[in-house]
Amino acid sequence: MAEQVVKFYNGNTYPILGLGTWQIKTTEANETVKYAIDVGYRHIDCASIFGNEYEVGLGIAAKIKEGVIKREDIFVTGKLWNTHHQPNLVEFGLKKTLQLINLEYLDLYLMHSPMGFQPGDIAFPKRRDGSIIEDGIDYIDTYRAMEGLVEKGLVKNIGISNFNCQQVERLLSNCTIKPVTNQIECHPYLIEKELSDFCNSKGILITAYCPLCKPGFSANEPNLLEDPKIIAVATKYKKTPAQVVLRYQTQRGHLVIPKSVTESRIQENFNIFDFELSPEDMNTINGMNSNTRVYVIFELCTDTTIHHCLHNRMSNIRKIHLHCLPHPIALNQLVDIPLKDLAGHHYNYMVHRINHGYICLCNCICSLQLNVSKTLLDKFFHKDF
Ligand SMILES: NC(=O)c1ccc[n+]([C@@H]2O[C@H](COP(=O)([O-])OP(=O)(O)OC[C@H]3O[C@@H](n4cnc5c(N)ncnc54)[C@H](OP(=O)(O)O)[C@@H]3O)[C@@H](O)[C@H]2O)c1
Repeated sequence: MAEQVVKFYNGNTYPILGLGTWQIKTTEANETVKYAIDVGYRHIDCASIFGNEYEVGLGIAAKIKEGVIKREDIFVTGKLWNTHHQPNLVEFGLKKTLQLINLEYLDLYLMHSPMGFQPGDIAFPKRRDGSIIEDGIDYIDTYRAMEGLVEKGLVKNIGISNFNCQQVERLLSNCTIKPVTNQIECHPYLIEKELSDFCNSKGILITAYCPLCKPGFSANEPNLLEDPKIIAVATKYKKTPAQVVLRYQTQRGHLVIPKSVTESRIQENFNIFDFELSPEDMNTINGMNSNTRVYVIFELCTDTTIHHCLHNRMSNIRKIHLHCLPHPIALNQLVDIPLKDLAGHHYNYMVHRINHGYICLCNCICSLQLNVSKTLLDKFFHKDF
């Protein structure tokens, strides 16, 4: 029987497989969570921005009341949303979650992303031109406030989400309590080897979100669960494609949190501990990487915003990551492109993919992640992309 729990660097254990709850409707969350607990799930991945914490909490409470589980048997992850990055709002954000989900503590609390937004009731505050309004708070300050939550006993573990290598490294040089996990998008089309190896070397476990690559998320993208390579491996082990890609994650030592509201799939996704993929099959799956991302963390920003960022806040930044979007064209491989901006500053770009003239640009120091039009990049950097 394969190991069903992981041990964090701090000695705490956590179930390696959890139920994702993003896009579970409030009308379905209670029943889904109850069903998953009956099946055997003991780890539920939640977030304030998912908007269903109350209903998830009802499901957990019902199963505690029925005597199926005790509080200490279930591991609940929550996430601090981007509008609560100001240190004085961090505890407030957590307490709102605890109140909604009806728990006295969380087992794991993550910073949902390194990027803070303007505080307020609007989850995605935007300028009139449609670009996101950031709050200018350094994620280090937010994280330090999260450390205080551990000291107060409000959360058992803390971690991060959507952090890249540079952000993790910078955080590690500035924190007291190391994050236990970095929750990132990860599936065979986006294996994130470098980030996984880096986090692993620091004792931080990866949690793979979107592990099934959200089948059918786009009519123009291949469906991972219909990929002939995955089907071939699944046939060999007499398992389903979903079970193979979930097992793939656990064999990499990653926690994994597939979402489903369908009873048969909730069951199917849980039954991954009775087989083991061979090193050759793990290699085959690793070879499917194409750096294709389902989630582009932040929405399209206008040329005005990128001008603003490049000229002001990012003027002292020397390294920028360009990430891929779905529907990519052209550059399939990582390319390092040293560029100079109009002010003579040098930038090191890592281009993952360029898509229909738009490039997702992630600044790995202050973590702005923006889409930049090709025309603007051409103009700004005097270089033809
Ligand atoms: N930290 C972050 O920024 C972040 C971002 C995104 C997601 N997450 C977390 O990660 C979780 C998982 O990611 P995700 O929900 O985006 O994508 P996912 O788990 O890769 O895919 C979910 C989709 O797959 C379907 N599905 C589930 N099991 C299946 C199976 N065995 N066969 C065929 N289809 C199946 C589900 O349909 P049905 O529900 O209809 O069965 C649903 O449409 C989220 O729920 C959330 O908790 C975190």
